[in-house]
Amino acid sequence: MSSNIPNIIDGQHVASLIREEVSQDASDWLSLGNRAPKLQVILVGGNQASKVYVGAKTKACEEVGILSETLMLPDTTSEKILKDHIARFNDDEEIDGILVQLPLPSHITPLAVIESIDHRKDVDGFHPMNVGRLTIGQPCYRSCTPAGIMELLKYYSLSPKSKDVVVVGASNIVGSPAAIMLSRENEEGKATTTICHKYTRDLTRHTIGADILIVAAGVPGLITGPMVKEGAIIIDVGMNRIADPTAQRGYRLVGDCDYDSVAAKASWITPVPGGVGPMTVAMLMKNTLLAAKKAVYPA
Ligand code: GUN
Repeated sequence: MSSNIPNIIDGQHVASLIREEVSQDASDWLSLGNRAPKLQVILVGGNQASKVYVGAKTKACEEVGILSETLMLPDTTSEKILKDHIARFNDDEEIDGILVQLPLPSHITPLAVIESIDHRKDVDGFHPMNVGRLTIGQPCYRSCTPAGIMELLKYYSLSPKSKDVVVVGASNIVGSPAAIMLSRENEEGKATTTICHKYTRDLTRHTIGADILIVAAGVPGLITGPMVKEGAIIIDVGMNRIADPTAQRGYRLVGDCDYDSVAAKASWITPVPGGVGPMTVAMLMKNTLLAAKKAVYPA
C-alpha cells in the first residue's frame, strides 16, 4: 500500500467564500436601491433526496440575502399545469431565477419543462439557449455543478490547460457541460477532453491516462485505485446514498470513487461529502444574483 497522502479539495471552504462574496454583492445591490433578488423553486413529487437539495438551496438563499419561494406540487401534477405555473413565474417581474428540481415524475418530459422556462431566468443553465451559448463560448447561465468544479480548479491553481481530462458520465447536468467548459479555448479550459459513459468499452484504458479525472456517473465505487494514474487530480461528483444502520439518517453518502484506493494514488481529491456538493449551491446563489442584475442577458 502506498503512503501517498493527497491534497484535499475543500469544497465546503471554497463554497463558503463564494457565498460570502454573493452575500456582500447582494447587500451592495440592495443599498443601490434595488429590490432583493428572488429565486422561485418548483419541486414536483416527494423524492427524498430532492427535498434535501431544495432545503439546502433555500437555506443558502436566506443566508446570502436572496428571497426564495418553493412551490411544492404533487407527483400527479400534469406537464400542462407545471408549465402554466412556469409561465406565470416567467411573467412575474419580482422573480429573477426559476429552478425546477430534477428528476421529475416519469409522465413529465424534462426538456419540455426546461424549454418553457424563460432562458433569462434559467439559473440552472439547463435551457437549450444557455447550453448552446456555453458551447459557442457566449455569455450564458452555466450549470451549477460543472461551474463549481471550474471554480475549485481555479481556487487551487489546478489549470486544465493542455492536460488530459477524462469525464466519466455524459449527463446534461454535469458530464457534458463539464467537458464543454474544460475544452473551450479560454482561461479556464484548453484541456484535451474525453467523455466516457456506460457504453465505453474499456473504461480503465481511458481513466488511467487522465491528469484530471471527473467522475459523475452515479455509480458508487465505480472508480478504483488501479484505474487511476499516479498523481492524478480526482473530482468525484457522486452523491450516492448507501444504507447504513449506524448512521443517524439510516444512510451515508459515498462518491463514485472507492475513496481509499483512489486517494492512495491521487495528488488532489474531492471528499464526499464536502467536495463538489456545496459548490453546486454556491454557484446557484451566484447565478441568481447575476439574474437579478441582468448581467448575463441585459434588458
Ligand atoms: N437535480 C440534480 N442536480 C440538480 C441541479 O443542479 N438542478 C436541478 N434543478 N435539479 C437537479
